[in-house]
Amino acid sequence: MQQLTEFTSTLTRSDLEAFWMPFTANRQFKDHPRLFVSAKDMHYTTHDGRQVLDGTAGLWCVNAGHCRSQIVEAVQTQVATLDFGPTFQMGHPGAFQLAQRLTEMAPGYDHVFFANSGSEAVDSALKIAIAYHRARGEGTRQRLIGRERGYHGVGFGGISVGGIGTNRKFFGSLLTGVDHLPHTHNLEHNAFSKGQPEWGAHLADELERLVLLHDASNIAAVIVEPVAGSTGVLIPPKGYLERLRSICDKYGILLIFDEVITGFGRLGASFAADYFDVKPDLITVAKGITNGTIPMGAVLVRQGIYDAFMHGPEHAIELFHGYTYSGHPVACAAGLATLKLYQQEGLFQRAHELSDYWEEAVHSLKGLPHVIDTRNLGLVAGIELEPIAGKPAARAFDCFLRCYERGLLIRTTGDIIALSPPLIIEKSHIDELFGLLAEVLKELP
Ligand SMILES: Cc1ncc(COP(=O)(O)O)c(C=O)c1O
Repeated sequence: MQQLTEFTSTLTRSDLEAFWMPFTANRQFKDHPRLFVSAKDMHYTTHDGRQVLDGTAGLWCVNAGHCRSQIVEAVQTQVATLDFGPTFQMGHPGAFQLAQRLTEMAPGYDHVFFANSGSEAVDSALKIAIAYHRARGEGTRQRLIGRERGYHGVGFGGISVGGIGTNRKFFGSLLTGVDHLPHTHNLEHNAFSKGQPEWGAHLADELERLVLLHDASNIAAVIVEPVAGSTGVLIPPKGYLERLRSICDKYGILLIFDEVITGFGRLGASFAADYFDVKPDLITVAKGITNGTIPMGAVLVRQGIYDAFMHGPEHAIELFHGYTYSGHPVACAAGLATLKLYQQEGLFQRAHELSDYWEEAVHSLKGLPHVIDTRNLGLVAGIELEPIAGKPAARAFDCFLRCYERGLLIRTTGDIIALSPPLIIEKSHIDELFGLLAEVLKELP
């Protein structure tokens, strides 16, 4: 703490140089640093001693609020008891307990593969899908289908099935054998929708076209975010996910829901799969699994998938995949404490109960300068701004900086503001959040 205080009180530009910041305008940041030095519940404290209301649960991960004592203590105890233990040919109790807890939360999914991030969870799920078909004697099923404007992390698998041009264009040829469904975002039809938009279920039928093109016997899996977060909160049209599920069923294609942001209560249910009552074959999670405290990701697989691998000699490894830190003891302890806290405080139910109030607050921004759409589901909101001609993303970034100055953390992607607060948020915080945002929107050039 002493070192940190010294660092922030004597901060100069050169102190910030060495860290190549991820997904950040490095030069802008280093000229105008924004550092968080501590956090509690709904607030961060900045290096210059200000309180900032967290409108984004960190990066969609701190669902139970910051520095919750139950999680902090579980981590402290675990790190002092078993700091690390391999899960290759060895085990430790926490990994088995956490996997079991997750399968209890997700009926129908009976095994869990651990990773350390959303990106790794996605790559693991894609590999499991392809290897699963092969294990069943359908080794030609190798093609993967993602969606435009999808975000599945930054591994080569994730950016290949992902659909964000800037995340793909610098990195070469990516995975081969990948196609994309069209995205479902259309303001002409769906602007200012409350909850799921009415228009767009038919866009799932594009999967039929890809099946005709490649033949189902060559397609392993379709991966989508049930609610796309990182490209600006794209809510699935009514009936869309159901249609994807039924086309996948028709052709024996695995359906993967990337629930890295929708998992753990964001929509007011354990998973989006429960909220929409559409059950994919694999679910990827991360972030909220440990309340963001310790990095962790996981893949939940539906009954039957693990079993398909369990043949051959008993001493032989069944899946040649895993990470040194798959099921890390400290992450597992954080995960167990987090899931307990979610349950004890009924946080998913709380998110559900607050979602109407949230919806009203989100749509109260309609009519303010530059606002061309407001949309919401659960405790998620997207507020789309008219871009400044020739300067995409500049207006929303300006809004982000002004909000930060006034004590509010929002997240922006392109010209869209994405909001996803901790599920412990109070109505008074919601009022404060949208009050501040409205003031900033009114003063934006
Ligand atoms: C849907 C989705 N998948 C994957 C990821 C990647 O997770 P990570 O940054 O932990 O690798 C994210 C991160 O925001 C995400 O939103």
